[in-house]
Amino acid sequence: MKPVGPIPADFAAIEGELAIGGQKVSALVERAGDTPLFVYSRAMLDQRMADLRAAMPHRLQINYAVKANPFGPLVSHMAGLVDGFDIASAGELALVQQAGIDPERVSFAGPGKRDAELEAAILAGVTLNCESEGEARRTFEIGERLGITPCMAVRVNPDFELRGSGMKMGGGAKPFGLDADRVPGLVHEIIAAGADWRGLHIFTGSQSLDAEAIAETQGNVLDLAARIADDVGRPLLKLNMGGGFGIPYFHGDQPLDLSLIGEALAKRFDALTATLIDTQFCIELGRYLAGEAGVYLTRIVDRKESHGVTYLITDGGLHHQLAASGNFGTVVRRNYPVAIATRFNAEAVEEANVVGCLCTPLDRLADQALLPHADVGDIVAVFCAGAYGASASPSAFLGQGSAQEVLV
Ligand SMILES: Cc1ncc(COP(=O)(O)O)c(C=O)c1O
Repeated sequence: MKPVGPIPADFAAIEGELAIGGQKVSALVERAGDTPLFVYSRAMLDQRMADLRAAMPHRLQINYAVKANPFGPLVSHMAGLVDGFDIASAGELALVQQAGIDPERVSFAGPGKRDAELEAAILAGVTLNCESEGEARRTFEIGERLGITPCMAVRVNPDFELRGSGMKMGGGAKPFGLDADRVPGLVHEIIAAGADWRGLHIFTGSQSLDAEAIAETQGNVLDLAARIADDVGRPLLKLNMGGGFGIPYFHGDQPLDLSLIGEALAKRFDALTATLIDTQFCIELGRYLAGEAGVYLTRIVDRKESHGVTYLITDGGLHHQLAASGNFGTVVRRNYPVAIATRFNAEAVEEANVVGCLCTPLDRLADQALLPHADVGDIVAVFCAGAYGASASPSAFLGQGSAQEVLV
């Protein structure tokens, strides 16, 4: 038997079935027409933001990283909750524009921005987080050609990383940002070129459940930003401090201690030096805001035994939920939180493997999980599916098609 991850506490049953946003999964599936289906809960998004606001210092702004979940209705809902948006492509720019989000609230980071993307960003008036000197120079040229002053921040590749993070985005050679010692030189170039210098972006990693490590990294980010601003000789308008707040996906994971992070940051904000005293600070979070608010629902289409092992074969799989299959950046595969949604309160009585409908042994949703007895027609729920689910999975693989998505 292998344990499954922790089901987020906010989920409960109605008449024995998992309910999301007050509606039973069978009703949600019926309304959508079929499985597989991603369901995102407005109430859980709201609650998550309320908890964050309560724990963080008031002057800290909270941005949503659209890459975590670019589903249009969810992005529109986030517009009423967060302060800003981090985008990573012209496609995500189009999404925030469709949602009517003020460009002043949007920053565009990511390596390899093409000229057409730079042009779209300049025309839209969003802040470009420059990842290299070359990208900055292309931005000056395009801005000049368009007759528009580009808004530019510099993304810093710091000399440190976020300890214990699932994905490290700083510390040593990286394709992201500019090595810290070269940043003052580029800032001078931006100012000399007549562009609108907006500040710095320092992103160190993601998916950390270690509050002390996050607090320590935020302190390092503030120190580094102060050093750069002192070197440049100008106060810093904005500092995007990155994110890295993780969620519990696996057995034994504990939720992040938000109060520890908030209190440590408040102390640091009380002791800012001259160049940071009036700075606007933000963090950018994806999975922490949206991850636990989403559930992936897939129906059992076959039940079979092989060499004494029970297989529950579903109409979903890794083409929608790559991360749950263990093939999205994990070294050792572990089970996400998984349940039989249509028998949510039933006693777990048998060990089963939940697999998808793709003809590959990689397509696993739960291995040797202790579950209630389930049959063809039952609906399986995979939790923590609100971030890096539908949009981070190979939906074209084997021609099985995309999953539907709803916000309830
Ligand atoms: C620049 C940047 N911002 C934000 C994020 C969002 O990270 P998470 O969803 O873990 O909060 C990432 C993730 O890779 C990133 O690269």
